[in-house]
Amino acid sequence: MFAGKAMIVTGSGSGIGAATARRLACEGAAVLLADIDVGRAEAVAARIRAERGRALAMRCDVASAEDNEMVAAACAGEFGGIDGVYLNAGMLGPAESFDAIDMARFDPLVGVNLRGPLNGMATALRHVRPGGAVVVTASLAAVMGLPSGPIYAATKHAVLGLVRSAAPAFAARGLRVNAICPGRVDTPMIGVTDEAPLVSPEELAVLPVGGPLDPQHIAEIALFLLSRAAAAINGQAIVADVGMSAAIGAGR
Ligand SMILES: NC(=O)c1ccc[n+]([C@@H]2O[C@H](COP(=O)([O-])OP(=O)(O)OC[C@H]3O[C@@H](n4cnc5c(N)ncnc54)[C@H](O)[C@@H]3O)[C@@H](O)[C@H]2O)c1
Repeated sequence: MFAGKAMIVTGSGSGIGAATARRLACEGAAVLLADIDVGRAEAVAARIRAERGRALAMRCDVASAEDNEMVAAACAGEFGGIDGVYLNAGMLGPAESFDAIDMARFDPLVGVNLRGPLNGMATALRHVRPGGAVVVTASLAAVMGLPSGPIYAATKHAVLGLVRSAAPAFAARGLRVNAICPGRVDTPMIGVTDEAPLVSPEELAVLPVGGPLDPQHIAEIALFLLSRAAAAINGQAIVADVGMSAAIGAGR
C-alpha cells in the first residue's frame, strides 16, 4: 500500500506509534521513527530493519519546533521526501481530579499534546508532498470529558480544533489532515507493557464495547487515513472506541 512512500511517525518507540511504524513498514513504506526516547525508537527501527524494512530512528521532542523541522529534513534527506506524517506522541500523566489539579502539569501536557501536533502540522504543511496526509492521535477524551485527567482532555479537545481549522489550508496544498480518537488502548501509557503481536488486519480481534483495543486496531485506522483510499476524508475526527460513546449506557 505504501511502496516507495516515506512516512514519519512520532511517539513510535512504544504503543500505538510503534505498531503503526511496523505496519507502515510491512506495507512498503520507509519510516522515520521520532521519539523523545530515542533508545526505544531505535529498538523498533532495528526490528523493522530485521524484517527487511527501511527505518531510521531519531530523537525528537515534539514540543520543539526545531526538532520537528530536523525530523522533516532527515526524512527528506534519507528517504527523498515525505508522503505522510503520523503525529502520535502524547502523554497522560498521573490521574488527578479537577478539584486537585496540579498546575505544574499544565505546561508539560500542553507542550507535548497540543504544541506537539501544532508544530508537526505546521512542518508537514510545508514539507509533505502533494497527495500526502497527516494523521493526529487525539483521544476519546477529545470528544468527552475525562474527570481523572482534565488537562489531558483539554489538550485533546484543542487538537481537534487544530485539525478542523487546518483542513482547508491542507486541501489547498493537495494534502489532508485528520484525527483519530481512540478509546482505551492497551499500551504502556495506561500501564500495559505486554505487547500484542501484529496480525494480518483480517485477523484483528473483534472487541466488546469499549475494548480494550490493541495498538494495531488504531494503527490500521492510521494507515487507512494516510492512504489515498481516504482521499475524501479531511478535517475529521474518527472515534475508535468500539461503540463506547455511541449510545448512553453502551458500555454497561
Ligand atoms: N493508550 C490509550 O488508552 C490511549 C487512548 C487515547 C489516546 N491515546 C493517545 O495515543 C497516543 C500514543 O499513546 P500510547 O498509548 O501509544 O502511549 P505510549 O506511552 O506507549 O507511547 C507514547 C510515546 O510517545 C513518546 N513521547 C512522549 N513525549 C514525547 C515528546 N515530547 N516527544 C516525542 N515523543 C514523546 C514516548 O516516549 C512514547 O514512546 C498519545 O497521543 C495518547 O495520548 C492513547
